[in-house]
Amino acid sequence: MQKLFLSPPHMGGNEQKYIGEVFKSNYIAPLGAFVNKFEKSVCDYTGTKNALAVTSGTAAIHLALRVLGIGKGDDVLASTFTFIGSVSAILYQDANPVFIDSERASWNLDPELLEKYLTNCNKKPKALILTHLYGQVAQIEKIAKLCKQYGIYLIEDAAESLGATYDGKHSGTFGDFGIYSFNGNKILTTSGGGMLVSDNEQWIEKAMFYSTQARENELYYEHVEYGYNYRMSNVLAAIGVGQMEVIEERVMKKRKVFEWYKNELSELDVEFMPELENSRGNRWLTTLLFKKGTNINKIIKALDKNNCECRPLWKPMHMQPLFKGCNVLLNNTSENFFSQGLCLPSGTLMTEDDVKRVCNIIKENY
Ligand SMILES: Cc1ncc(COP(=O)(O)O)c(C=O)c1O
Repeated sequence: MQKLFLSPPHMGGNEQKYIGEVFKSNYIAPLGAFVNKFEKSVCDYTGTKNALAVTSGTAAIHLALRVLGIGKGDDVLASTFTFIGSVSAILYQDANPVFIDSERASWNLDPELLEKYLTNCNKKPKALILTHLYGQVAQIEKIAKLCKQYGIYLIEDAAESLGATYDGKHSGTFGDFGIYSFNGNKILTTSGGGMLVSDNEQWIEKAMFYSTQARENELYYEHVEYGYNYRMSNVLAAIGVGQMEVIEERVMKKRKVFEWYKNELSELDVEFMPELENSRGNRWLTTLLFKKGTNINKIIKALDKNNCECRPLWKPMHMQPLFKGCNVLLNNTSENFFSQGLCLPSGTLMTEDDVKRVCNIIKENY
């Protein structure tokens, strides 16, 4: 049986042609026309004013924190229900993460808990890193309003949610900064890569400076500050340009795969990840919760044995040994998600029969 991966790469068709052009021009490294084209395609698609192509989504978040001047001892709020790449840059900057739990309505950060924290905290946080998980948009309007009201920077982690919108506006474009990931399993991939976006041109220029070793504008190599080697190569950007041509097709197919699962599992007592009113998720991964007491491990093992890749939902950050003792505001939601949830194979090359194959295994082991 052919292996069904969670979210394997799916090339659009022009990527190799564009890589060929890169080779022909010999702009293999470091930069070149495709880096600019890739950035422009993300600006055009999402409506952001400025974009910077970098080596990963994690690097993009790191640059955002650095540009905003977040450093030693600063508090940074973050979704606890997320992937480590969302928050590791807080540690790179020697700042303190403060984790906020999720709500049931979006499975993303709970705006009420956020408000509770902001009204009661003794020390004002500098920023919030808000994740739009599994391609679903958080209550971004409410959250952005709270950030404005309390004067904290908003960084949207849209690593998994390129193509997702709220009121027609793209995830990643509401905050001070947004980031996207082009890691191997994302809706689009450059094999590895990320994009930092912002409407603030000066911030993106500063991020570009830090992403290229913070070299001063001199003929020789002059350094007043330290930077990083975070810029994306022209070869990978060529893949990105090809991938951006098919983003809408990919979103529609991910949403179709989700609908197939929903129909196929309708007889089971399960809850699929919701989608807020006025929003369109990209359904990067189809995720669902089983009722309490379901033997999730049995289902995972059965799927694995039958060559179907699946995963529990993300283990919340406050439960990670790495963050033992961190400040956290909880309501049990993300812990329940972790113990009861699963991510199913959601590749855009899947057929309805592939989905039926996965669902039959789930039904047999439910
Ligand atoms: C929610 C989230 N944040 C951040 C990242 C980091 O992105 P990257 O792997 O490109 O560094 C990822 C994915 O890998 C992610 O899923």
